[in-house]
This record gives sequence, C-alpha cells and structure tokens, in this order.
Amino acid sequence: MRRKRGWTALVAGLAAMCLVLAGCGGGKKASSGTSSASKVEVFSWWTGGGEAKGLEAMVADFKKKHPEITFENAAVAGGSGTNAKAVLASRLQAHQPPDSFQGHAGAELLDYIKAGQLEPLDFLYDQLKLRDVFPQELVNQITFEGHVYSVPVNIHRANVLWFSPSVLKEAGISKPPATIPEFIADLQQVKQKTSKIPLSLGAQWTADHLLDAVLLGDLGVDGWNALWKQGADWSSPQVTKALQDYNTILQYTNTEAASTDWQGAAKDVVDGKAAFNIMGDWAAGYFKELNKQPKVDYDWAAAPGTDGVYQWLSDSFTLPKGAPHRDAAIAWLTEASSKDGQDLFNPQKGSIPARKDADTSLYKDYLAWALQQWKSDKLAGSMWHGVTANNAWHTDIDTSVGLFLKNKNVGNFQKSLVDAATAGLAS
Ligand code: GAL
Repeated sequence: MRRKRGWTALVAGLAAMCLVLAGCGGGKKASSGTSSASKVEVFSWWTGGGEAKGLEAMVADFKKKHPEITFENAAVAGGSGTNAKAVLASRLQAHQPPDSFQGHAGAELLDYIKAGQLEPLDFLYDQLKLRDVFPQELVNQITFEGHVYSVPVNIHRANVLWFSPSVLKEAGISKPPATIPEFIADLQQVKQKTSKIPLSLGAQWTADHLLDAVLLGDLGVDGWNALWKQGADWSSPQVTKALQDYNTILQYTNTEAASTDWQGAAKDVVDGKAAFNIMGDWAAGYFKELNKQPKVDYDWAAAPGTDGVYQWLSDSFTLPKGAPHRDAAIAWLTEASSKDGQDLFNPQKGSIPARKDADTSLYKDYLAWALQQWKSDKLAGSMWHGVTANNAWHTDIDTSVGLFLKNKNVGNFQKSLVDAATAGLAS
C-alpha cells in the first residue's frame, strides 16, 4: 500500500511539473512520435453497420504502433454525420474540441478552416512527404491560402446504383438502367410485376443523397458542376425537369423509409426485398460485413445517367486548434495518412484509398471496379457529403428537401433551391 501511494505521488508530481513546464503533449510546438503516456480522442460517425469495421482495423494498427496512447472512440451514430456534426459544432463553439475529427474534403472543411478551428498540417505533409502520395485535385480541396489542413483517408463514390439480381430477374429487367428515363421505366416495371420495393430509401438524408444523384444524372457532369459556381442557374428548365423526375422517382420508394438509416435501405436490396438502392459505396463495406456475395446477392452500376462520372467525396481527419493531446493527435494523423493504415481501413470501409501507392490487390469486387473508374471517370463533387456546398447551404438544401417530401410541390421546391443557392454562393 505504502509503496503504491509513493508511486502515485511520484506520478502526480511529475504530471504537475509537466503542466508547469507546459511541455508534455499540450505545448504548441509538439512534434510527432513522442512517447509520453497519453490518449487520443477521435471523433467520427462510424459506429456500426459497415461503418465501424474499417475504423477498428486502423485503430488496431495504431495501437500496435503506439501502445502508450489510449484510443478513445468518440463516434456519434447517424449516417452521413447528421447527429455527429451537430455535436461537433457545439463542442467547437465551446472550445472543447476532440483531438481529431472527421471532416469532408471540400466546402465542409473550408468552413472549419475559415472559422479558425483547425491547425494547418504543412509540417506533417513535409515530414511524411504527403504531397507526393495524394492526388493533387484532392490536396487542392483541403488547402486554403497555401496551407493544407487535413489528412484524407479515403475516396468514396456517392453515385452507385445497387440492385438485386433476383428482383430484376423477377421483374424481367435484363440490365441496369443507363439513364433516368430508363430508371423510371424500370421502377414502374418492378412495381407492376413484383411485390418488391422498387427503390429503397432511408432517413431524410438519403433523400438528399438521391437528389444529388438525380440532378447529376439529368444535368450531366458539366451541368452539375456549374450548379456550385458563380452564375449557377438553379431556375433553369433543366433543373425543373430533374426535380420532376426526382418527384416521380420518390413515388416508387418505400413508405416506412424515414424510420431507418441507410443500412436498412441498403439491406433491403441484399435481402431481395427491394430492386434498387442509390447509396455511396460504404454500402459495399456493409454488404461485406453481412457476408453477402457480390454479383449474387447484389450487383452495382453507375447511378442512372452518370456512367463515366465519379461523384466523389473524401473523409479526412483534422488537427483542431487546442486539441488536448496534440502529440497523440499527430500520431493518429500519421496513421490515417499511412499506406498500412489506409490499406487496412478502406477494404473494410468500402472506399478506395486516398493514397496513390496503395496495394491494389487488396481491393476486390466492387472496389476493383471503383479503382478502375477513379482512373478514367470525370469528377463531380458530392453536395450532401461536403464537397460542393458549405454547411449553411447544405442545411438549406436539406430543409428544402424536408418540405418537399411533405408537400411534393416541385415549383416551391425549385424556388427554395434557388434561394439556397443565392445565399450559398454569396457566403
Ligand atoms: C458519409 C461519410 C462516409 C460514410 C457515410 C454514411 O458522409 O463520408 O464515410 O460514413 O457518410 O454514414
């Protein structure tokens, strides 16, 4: 007992000295690789159903490399960060950041940067030569005024049409629809010929995600990309047509939709309850976790009208200003940027690696296809997953979609999207 107390007192004394000297992990000029006992609190929205597996794999590798750091998983459940982003915003406002948090490359990250909430990571990019390993277009999306602010861990594809081969067969559909009109005809055919759900949908954000896909499918890559730049015309007849199509497509979705997150909707396809689901490729990670067979239990194609276009997004990790365990956060960012870390994370997560030098043999089935497409496709950023619209614009679009799901008034919907764009482009 006495010895224990003495030991505890010694540790406490050292800790106090540390605080006085301000040099044990909390100091400004910390470098990576310090070995002082610490913890790291990492914030994401990857809690389960295909989301957590990849994170677990990378964390296991991190723990092996840093046994002195306790990993604290601060994930908040809710697909696409619907709940997590609100929790994060209040923590950042209260100056109580986690040590590192997940942020989407593009406009979403820019919000945090402009609010002065992130430290630049140029030192880490120089030290680990990261500029050489990530695609330049991606680095541009996380750079502001010449400084780079996050470490991208993956590239996801948003515009994937998942389908059930057995339900399509039952409906007499021989190949997935290549255009929006073909898609609508197929949905109608499933409805007429089977008792299955034509298109499964989940919580409201999955309807936002669907809107991205339909706008891209109808407007094409140039039309889509123009929506997010100065001079964008959200009042055009082409947008009207796309919104009418969106309205038609929604009529073929399941009515219990809102009560389930994306996992429930994706599962309907692999369980042979629904013909189609439009969801990002995190669904591939989920199907793997469910032990479902590619090309048997499910198959995939570019979302209708988007062949040759990669509607991309990227999860990246940050170093918030005032991170309580800065050295440990840098160790985590080093892991997230590493070839080992990315090759453990991505095959489970259902994403391709952000690094250009990853081991491609690890990416099979859907992911082998995605790697190929990434090389040749044109790029379109995802709105819902943070690339093209900042958080305020994103919220405005979500509000418009929420109202539209209730009243189905295309005219009002388009007007509110025009207003959202006017405000978004001015900010
Ligand atoms: C996205 C995120 C993905 C995946 C998905 C569903 O926004 O980038 O990593 O988690 O949400 O939750």
